[in-house]
Amino acid sequence: MTRSILIATSNAGKLRDFAGAAAPHGIAVAAIPGFASLPPVVEDGATFEANARKKAEAYSHAVAGQLVLADDSGLEIDALNGAPGVHSARYAAPDLQNKEPHLADENTDDEANNARVLRELSAVPAGKRTARFVCVLAAARDGITLATFRGTAEGVILSAPRGHNGFGYDPLFYFPQIGKTFAELSAEEKSRYSHRGAAFRAFLDWCDQTL
Ligand code: IMP
Repeated sequence: MTRSILIATSNAGKLRDFAGAAAPHGIAVAAIPGFASLPPVVEDGATFEANARKKAEAYSHAVAGQLVLADDSGLEIDALNGAPGVHSARYAAPDLQNKEPHLADENTDDEANNARVLRELSAVPAGKRTARFVCVLAAARDGITLATFRGTAEGVILSAPRGHNGFGYDPLFYFPQIGKTFAELSAEEKSRYSHRGAAFRAFLDWCDQTL
C-alpha cells in the first residue's frame, strides 16, 4: 500500500521539494485539495511549534482520516534576541504598514524584510552576527497533532546580500559549512542543508517507523 500525506501549502516549490524527498520512502505527497479556498489559519502563536500545530490541526479537519503536514519557519538572529523569529514573514511591517509585525495586515516583501535586518544589525560586528533558520513541521490527523519535527541550519548574517537563488532571507544567510549563502545554493543543495530539509527527513524517519 502506498502511504500518502497531504501538505498544508499552496507553495509549488515547497511541494516539489517535499515530494522529491519523500518518493524514495514510498510516500506520495500532495497538497490538500482546494487548499487555497479553505479559511486561512491565523498564525498568532508565540513559537514555531505552536503555529505549525495550529495549522496542521485546523487543516486536517478538512480531510477526514488523512495525515496532514503543516510547517512554520523563520530566522532567529542572536544579536536581536531571536528576532525576527515567528514574525519573519512580516518583519518590515513597521516600515511599510506603520504597525508592529504581530499586528500586520499581510506579509511584507523579502527586500523590505532584509533591509530591516541589515538596519537592525548595522552596529553589530561580524563575529556577533550568528543566526539560524528554524523549521517546525507538525503532523496531524482529524484535529490531533501526532508529532512535531524541528530542523535548524546555523549561519551568519552578512552585511550585504549575495546570490540570486532561493527566497526570503537567503541572500543574507551565510552558511560556513560550505562557504556560501543560501541564495548561492542549487535547489538540491538547499534541501540537503536547509532547516526545512532536516525537519522533513526527521518526519520521513518517523513515517518509516510508525506508518
Ligand atoms: P513560512 O513558514 O513559509 O511562513 O516562512 C516564514 C518566513 O520565514 C518567510 O517569509 C521567510 O521570510 C522566512 N524563511 C523561512 N524559511 C526560509 C528559507 O529557507 N530561506 C529564507 N527565508 C526563509
